[in-house]
Amino acid sequence: MERSPAMTSVDANWTEFHKKDVSEKLPFFARNGRLYDCLFAQQFDRELLTRLFKTADALREMTKKKEGMDYAGSLLSHVRAMLYFVQPSTRTFLSFLNAAHILGIRTSEIRDTSTSSEVKGESPEDTVRTFSSYVDLIIMRHPAPGFVEKTAWLMNRTNRPVPIINGGSGKDQHPTQALLDAYTLYRSFNGEMDNKKIAMVGDLKRGRTVRSLTYLMKNYRNISLAFVSPEEFRMEADILEFLKRHGIPFTETGDLRSVMGGADAVYMTRVQDEHDKAGESGAVDYSPFYFKTEHLKLIKKTCVIMHPLPRRHEIEPAVDEDPRAVFWRQERNGMWARAALMAYIFGADSKING
Ligand code: CP
Repeated sequence: MERSPAMTSVDANWTEFHKKDVSEKLPFFARNGRLYDCLFAQQFDRELLTRLFKTADALREMTKKKEGMDYAGSLLSHVRAMLYFVQPSTRTFLSFLNAAHILGIRTSEIRDTSTSSEVKGESPEDTVRTFSSYVDLIIMRHPAPGFVEKTAWLMNRTNRPVPIINGGSGKDQHPTQALLDAYTLYRSFNGEMDNKKIAMVGDLKRGRTVRSLTYLMKNYRNISLAFVSPEEFRMEADILEFLKRHGIPFTETGDLRSVMGGADAVYMTRVQDEHDKAGESGAVDYSPFYFKTEHLKLIKKTCVIMHPLPRRHEIEPAVDEDPRAVFWRQERNGMWARAALMAYIFGADSKING
């Protein structure tokens, strides 16, 4: 079904809003001084991060016993959530789903637009608005950059707004991945997040996880970043500009071995070829950006090896057996961090933290 291409006043207002700096937009996605829609990693400050990490720790401790699990499951049993994941996902989807269930949230899901009325010509915006007729929270993954933000903006203009959580939007942001990555650092370093050197490795140009994690690191003191990538996939200028503005030192190199000895965390990523326009990834030799068992002797005893997963060949499976490989713990941390976030959004975190 054809829709008119003419720009409406809503489109014009959105375009105007979208152009603003994120710092100007944040109040629009907050309620009573609290985060309401979770769209950007820049929404997390140090105080909120610490609060969420403590909630996640308390929740995982509490739910070790049945009575604790029953209590957690009663906290948000009045809430219904929609998981709209129209881009492939295993762990973000499952961790949100199970985090919701831990808190007693009942869930519905759409994972493919071919099963929604979008095939009849309904716009994605109307589709998401429809969810808000039935649920109290929408968690979304969408391939179009900015779409999750747009729907939150639209929703906040309706008479039945519901919070929206970004589970990954295009190649721009994956804020809850950054949240769980920071939570993994927090647990790995016993709560000491300052004074860390972090190497981010791989396809930094199109990796939304490294973009969001970089934004988050501004909350900590004396952080330095080493970006390690093929020439073709260097970190984007907007992120480098952000780091300069916040006085966070960084280096860029194509030599992984050169940064290994100094790193407190090595954050590996895969090539993001789902964003290819013409198969350009195939022309890039990615093998210098693999973490191999021989590299284990080059990193510090206290260094952690991270990966948002899924992986292809970036980390040899034998590396998994090294205690410094924390990526399997990292994905499980996602469930607790996301549960803490949902508890916070609905004001139930104080019932977990006491
Ligand atoms: N890290 C991450 O977003 O994984 P999925 O694509 O499996 O959700």
